Amino acid sequence: MTTTATAPADRTATPADPGAAPVALRAVVDLDVAGPTISRHVYGHFAEHLGRCIYGGFWVGEDADVPHEGGIRTDVVEALRALDIPNLRWPGGCFADEYHWEDGIGPREERPRVVNTHWGDVVENNHFGTHEFMALCELLGAEPYVSSNVGSGSVQEMSEWVEYLTRGDDSPMARRRREHGRDEPWRVKFWGIGNEPWGCGGNLLAPQFASLARQFSTYARNHGGNELYRIVAGARDDDFDWTETLMKQVSTKLGDPAPSDLFQAVSFHYYTVTGTWSEKGSATDFTTDEYWTTMRQALKVREVLAGHAAVMDAWDPTKKVGLVLDEWGTWWDVEPGTNPGFLFQQNTLRDALVAGVHFDVFHEFADRLRMANIAQTVNVLQAMLLTDGEHLVRTPTYHVFEMNKGHQDATALDVRAVGERSRRDVGGTTIETVSASASVKDGRVLVSLTHLDPSAPTRVEIALRGAAVGTPTGRVLTGDLAAHNTAEAPDAVAPVALEGVSVVDGVLVVELPPASFATVELPLV
Ligand code: AHR
Repeated sequence: MTTTATAPADRTATPADPGAAPVALRAVVDLDVAGPTISRHVYGHFAEHLGRCIYGGFWVGEDADVPHEGGIRTDVVEALRALDIPNLRWPGGCFADEYHWEDGIGPREERPRVVNTHWGDVVENNHFGTHEFMALCELLGAEPYVSSNVGSGSVQEMSEWVEYLTRGDDSPMARRRREHGRDEPWRVKFWGIGNEPWGCGGNLLAPQFASLARQFSTYARNHGGNELYRIVAGARDDDFDWTETLMKQVSTKLGDPAPSDLFQAVSFHYYTVTGTWSEKGSATDFTTDEYWTTMRQALKVREVLAGHAAVMDAWDPTKKVGLVLDEWGTWWDVEPGTNPGFLFQQNTLRDALVAGVHFDVFHEFADRLRMANIAQTVNVLQAMLLTDGEHLVRTPTYHVFEMNKGHQDATALDVRAVGERSRRDVGGTTIETVSASASVKDGRVLVSLTHLDPSAPTRVEIALRGAAVGTPTGRVLTGDLAAHNTAEAPDAVAPVALEGVSVVDGVLVVELPPASFATVELPLV
């Protein structure tokens, strides 16, 4: 099966008629006014022991027929490497608060079989554990983000896991690691303290969790030269009080500890849910009205992120503490006939557009948002990849990550709208129909545009000031809103070259097809 992520040279999108397309957005970008750096970690990922994410997704075992390296699927690794995947969060999610890391070390056949009570009540054989995860991160070239068990684990258990992973000299846990075949310690920076403590992580109240976060953070030690970046589990959606309770713990306003000494980041989760939690709707079968509702919900991430950032600014005006959105994405009803506890859903152009607008918001808040992790990487929720036996399918969302990867560690550029722009009322909320962001890195400007309106093409005009640019090139992802990729048609939704991109008198003009995500690159000259 063909699985190329880039467009064959002979395929181009049909350009819109320049005369017919109304201008949805006019904007100005000052190329010589540098914004903050967009952390590459906002392009982070998440792999939980849930459904077929780990087992069947990443891990097939050493006896598998599918090509693998030490039990890890080669095709999955190759596909993710093409995204420059910066970090991978593991082992959960809700699973993290039931996970006991010692179950997942030592000879695989001797590891205890336990039950994954949270996700499908299935047997967890612990074949994928600490060593396998660290090997996966090495294959991916990604930084590990380990989420530790606060809900049902002990401080000692967590503390020893840090020691096992990161201590180099002679210590009980370092000796134990060596007994299991790994001499050198690993380098682990990102360390999660708990997950959704207000829900599956213990049903705790904010002050209760704040106390635990202080305690667990204290015993998540820096061993040798390994310095942890401790991320304490934060709010659901717009629960700004939760963030405030945590921020009070590290504010100079209350004296010790100094900001960022105790923990270095606070997280929150925000999922795009269109219906209710019990009836979220189908991933592939939806009306245009439902589509617009989805986009309204996706764009709400801006107000949620702004709310958390504002609370943090009040307690940490110099922005030492990072904000981390370590779970985001669409959440639909599971595909018919699949295990409800496995959260397996298809992924359409609609999901890709949701990703597109999220990244614009992430770039806008680059000064505070240090990491984001889409849920989840393979076969679960808004996945990058779907596997079915030997088959691997790249989803439309995968292509957005690939097309946008040039923003990783780039300097954000402000895209300032001028004059009227196209808007639409969605159930009493006004949303903009074109979303945009831009950055510059290594002498290249990257502009991302998400055009939400499925009914008509549009045109975007961006005045580029402060530097000269060369010839622009564009790529676009478009199709029917419900279009998706399958093993039989793996490239039904794939990026193609975008015609109708030009710079006229210093103004970038882009013709966008209906419902499309596009990127335009321009060299600085
Ligand atoms: O990503 C699926 C689940 O969503 C995670 O386990 C949990 O943290 C969240 O509720």
